[in-house]
Amino acid sequence: MTHVFTIAIDGPAGAGKGTLARRLADHYRLNLLDTGLTYRAVAYALIQHALPLDNVSAAETAARQVDLAKLDRTVLSAHAVGEAASKVAVYPTVRRILVEKQRDFAKTPPGAVLDGRDIGTVVCPDADIKLYVTASAEVRAQRRLAEIESIGGTADFTEILADIMRRDERDMGRADSPLKPAADAHLLDTSEMAIEAAFLAAMAIIDDVLAKRD
Ligand code: DC
Repeated sequence: MTHVFTIAIDGPAGAGKGTLARRLADHYRLNLLDTGLTYRAVAYALIQHALPLDNVSAAETAARQVDLAKLDRTVLSAHAVGEAASKVAVYPTVRRILVEKQRDFAKTPPGAVLDGRDIGTVVCPDADIKLYVTASAEVRAQRRLAEIESIGGTADFTEILADIMRRDERDMGRADSPLKPAADAHLLDTSEMAIEAAFLAAMAIIDDVLAKRD
């Protein structure tokens, strides 16, 4: 059986794991799944139908209907959708449905880079490489502010920071699959690191694992 290679990337919102995942998937020619989009798709479906986010059976139905090939980043990237996603992500039955789809994706040759909150701990506990990408809440808030300003928007740093801290608390504090580094994850703190440096650091970790296995 050919070995399917898996790179698991976890970390809080805004740590730079999405960009890193994309760069690594390109470089190692692997499939890519931003698992946050699957939770966002569920939240978006509820919002579209004007259903409350705590309607668990509607969330389960929406989760079953998620098609990984049809996740529309443009529609799902809105900040409010991310907030709502963090709320529907607390329900174990919703998670189970999405995790199954994510595992099927990971099994598809030649393998994949998956990024999220519970990839190394729950979705792919046997991943070949696990990275936990983090940055201080202040740095993540600063990055989000710069991003908003770069497209001509305005925002308040204190509000963004409070928002990020609330989201961290929800993602790290939930009972089912909370965000935390897997015991065997490599930690990558990007607080004082540009994305290129984070990419090089991740590549060094991955190439080392690959060299040892050859
Ligand atoms: O990474 P993101 O901002 O797109 O994720 C949105 C929310 O989805 C996040 O706050 C928590 C949830 N999520 C999760 O619980 N597990 C994942 N593997 C990915 C995202």
